[in-house]
Amino acid sequence: MSYTTPQVILLWIVALAIAWVILVRIVRMFVHFPIPSFLAQFLDNPIRRMLQPPATVVDWIDIREGMRVLEIGPGPGTFTIEAARRAGDNGRIFAVDIQPVVITRLDERLKRDEITNVRAEVASAYQLPYRNGFFDRVFMITVLGEIPDKRRALLEIKRVLKDDGLLAVGEFLPDPDYPRRETVFNWCRSARFELVGRYGGLWHYVLTFKKSESQKKQTIIHSGPVKFFSFGSLRETFA
Ligand SMILES: C[S@@+](CC[C@H](N)C(=O)[O-])C[C@H]1O[C@@H](n2cnc3c(N)ncnc32)[C@H](O)[C@@H]1O
Repeated sequence: MSYTTPQVILLWIVALAIAWVILVRIVRMFVHFPIPSFLAQFLDNPIRRMLQPPATVVDWIDIREGMRVLEIGPGPGTFTIEAARRAGDNGRIFAVDIQPVVITRLDERLKRDEITNVRAEVASAYQLPYRNGFFDRVFMITVLGEIPDKRRALLEIKRVLKDDGLLAVGEFLPDPDYPRRETVFNWCRSARFELVGRYGGLWHYVLTFKKSESQKKQTIIHSGPVKFFSFGSLRETFA
């Protein structure tokens, strides 16, 4: 048997990809860090776009003309750009990422593509630089699993979301941090969000949530400074 036939090479690629995902999941049990920024840029590629089409995901999030939308953890901007098209000239997308280099690259891409209704800034999901009840939609795609203190991030999201706004959490199976839908549901329920929609399947999905009735009109105060380990021996503090 030849070790270089296309089938054998394909099997090797699949086996290595699975081994990589298992390795990262094991490492993640002990240490949390955001995806290294040099890898983040490869997240936008034709294969992923085919498997998790941005237009479908943004349809599920239900972004409409004129909305004010927050994306947490935009990475290379795959979903940011689609969301910006939907929100149109009267809408606005705010994209925040904890890694400055991710935001610099996204800004460059937005300029290149002449997209003017997106504001990209460095911030942590733990401490969002926006006032209470500011957004119609908040979404995060393959991000929540990467955040160590999910409840803290979700409570902060709830603060900036309008009472009739929606939170959308999207996940993609090949992501080493992929959580099952039930897990995301439980995280969000513990932060007092109610499920309103579920889309997609095992391969990729979006769950949408609204604030539970009892949580509306409540003001949540910012918690303290945020410490987060990021790749490349950075220890950043967003005070
Ligand atoms: C796996 S990438 C996903 C990028 C993009 N959403 C996508 O699906 O292509 C996760 C992104 O979330 C960002 N991130 C991780 N933790 C964060 C936090 N606490 N606050 C804001 N952004 C965070 C990372 O820097 C990274 O850009």
